[in-house]
Amino acid sequence: MDDSLVFPSQHPLVKHKLTLLRNARTEPKKFRELVRELSILLAYEATADLALRDITVQTPLAQTTGHQLAEKIGLVPVLRAGLGMVEGIWEMMPSAEVWHIGLYRDEHTLKPVTYYNKLPVEPRVSVVLVLDPMLATGGSAVATVDILKQWGARRIKYVGLIGAPEGITRLRAAHPDVPIHIGVVDERLSREGDPWPAGYIMPGLGDAGDRQFGTG
Ligand code: PRP
Ligand code: URA
Repeated sequence: MDDSLVFPSQHPLVKHKLTLLRNARTEPKKFRELVRELSILLAYEATADLALRDITVQTPLAQTTGHQLAEKIGLVPVLRAGLGMVEGIWEMMPSAEVWHIGLYRDEHTLKPVTYYNKLPVEPRVSVVLVLDPMLATGGSAVATVDILKQWGARRIKYVGLIGAPEGITRLRAAHPDVPIHIGVVDERLSREGDPWPAGYIMPGLGDAGDRQFGTG
């Protein structure tokens, strides 16, 4: 597999916060705070190549040349677990548009089922960040990028917190043009005989939606 577009974070803050996030004792309030903070750090890394235009700015002392973002950004959280990734990133880039896609993973087949999609007729953004904390089998990520490409999005980046090798391979194979910015790549997916049902990321953090919303 070509790993040139897979970017596991090397940042010490990300590693520190991911460890707190994984801890089974971390309560939903703290868990949401960590998801928010990690998302900001990962979006910072994922947006390092955004284009700028020069603008003139008057400081109290002199006129100088500064910069302005030249690209319109779309944030696409995948419901429900991706919701917790939006707020912090949006504060960093308040001119971004936010569009939601609703998908859940059928618990028996592990295939994604789409239940919400209200994208506008055509994209008004030049780069889209897909926000979903868990890249497990990769089914949800591939389905989301399929939807966004059919919609007309040309430049798409995936931003997630924890990935399994299986999900990364699948997303790379289906959409080799989509860079994957991920907090960490874990060992594998759970299978029959493991303490959790098949298809969860090991060691992972459990169910990201349940842990954020207190529904587990
Ligand atoms: C989780 C997660 C991803 C998906 C990843 O969502 O947020 O969307 O699983 O799994 P995959 O890579 O195998 O497709 P889930 O289906 O649990 O829904 P939820 O966010 O509403 O809890
Ligand atoms: N969805 C989750 O929330 N966690 C996993 O480990 C896999 C899919």
